Amino acid sequence: MTLLLGIESSCDETAAAVVRDGREVKSSRVASQHELHAPWRGVVPELASRAHAERLPAMIEAALAEAGVSPDELDGVAVAARPGLLGALLVGVCGAKAFAWAHGLPLVDVDHVEAHVYSPLLVVKLEPPYVCLVASGGHTALYLARGFGEGEIDLLGTTRDDAAGEAFDKLAAMLELGFPGGPAVQRLASGGDPDAVELPTTRLEGLQFSFSGLKTAARYALEGRGKHAGGPPPAPADLAAAFQRAVAEQLVSRLAAAAEQAGVSRVAIAGGVAANSALRAASEALCATKGWRLAVPPLCYCTDNAAMIAGLGFHRLRAGLTAPLELEPSPRSEARELGRVLRQRAQQRHHRKQP
Ligand code: KG4
Ligand code: ZN
Repeated sequence: MTLLLGIESSCDETAAAVVRDGREVKSSRVASQHELHAPWRGVVPELASRAHAERLPAMIEAALAEAGVSPDELDGVAVAARPGLLGALLVGVCGAKAFAWAHGLPLVDVDHVEAHVYSPLLVVKLEPPYVCLVASGGHTALYLARGFGEGEIDLLGTTRDDAAGEAFDKLAAMLELGFPGGPAVQRLASGGDPDAVELPTTRLEGLQFSFSGLKTAARYALEGRGKHAGGPPPAPADLAAAFQRAVAEQLVSRLAAAAEQAGVSRVAIAGGVAANSALRAASEALCATKGWRLAVPPLCYCTDNAAMIAGLGFHRLRAGLTAPLELEPSPRSEARELGRVLRQRAQQRHHRKQP
């Protein structure tokens, strides 16, 4: 039996959890900062860091108390060390280091987005390889999980501009629905007709996403510009429904293409946007048609949490992937950096071939 404490502070949720053997969640505490950032319609990094620093010790204590576990019963501390807001990550990483050092525990660094990829395993048995769409306020990307050791989660494609959740948040800001916008857009969309407003589809090919064109089209429709000139502005509910369908269709078409390319029949969706009912319905329809297995974590593990950090941390600890106390957070993902390194290498090979 291996018990891990997980710590998460990469964006605007301060979270701590205790997970046994990477699967059994003993406790999962999340303190959201949504109300703190709502007046600014987005996350203010400095406010986020300060709130994490104020709340983290109490979250750790609460997670341990709820699990009925004392620090000396733990086998390690896993922390989200990348990607995210640097100052926010720093709070969690410093807290994890201090806790690990004080209790003589191994420290395990975890990639936050890879932890989202892992999150379905907290509730279902899902054997790698599988393709996972991670769609949240900060990330929209496709991954192939071949396993959970170092370098076993490959980035297949990502967004060229906004993240899907960010697109929902921006539409919500235009419609003055408050922040975070995804749930509010979904509520409004439930009473709207998606066919009543024409929105463009992205021309990007392959496994790339783009939502900025959609956002501009929504703004033009509201302001009666471009091809919407002269017409009445759309009903907000219709615009929300059309927008939500367009986002879901783009996400699911790329998820389908990624699974086909990777040759897998198991897919998952994770991240805050996986809570979206239109996305869930479109993914279910896809998997029913293809005969694929679909895994979607429950809402509490879709949005940012520390159980997924401790979950993936268990596999890294088991593989001997511990971090030194000099561990430093990074705003970027290694997978993304790896993609850059691979592209650079390919370019170098290409240049060498030139006469
Ligand atoms: O994973 P998450 O909690 O935090 C990040 O890492 O970003 O995701 C939050 C994002 C927000 O942009 C929010 O608007 C979006 O997920 N979201 C939704 C829904 N619930 C949350 N988007 C669409 N429909 C929803 N029901
Ligand atoms: Zn996240």
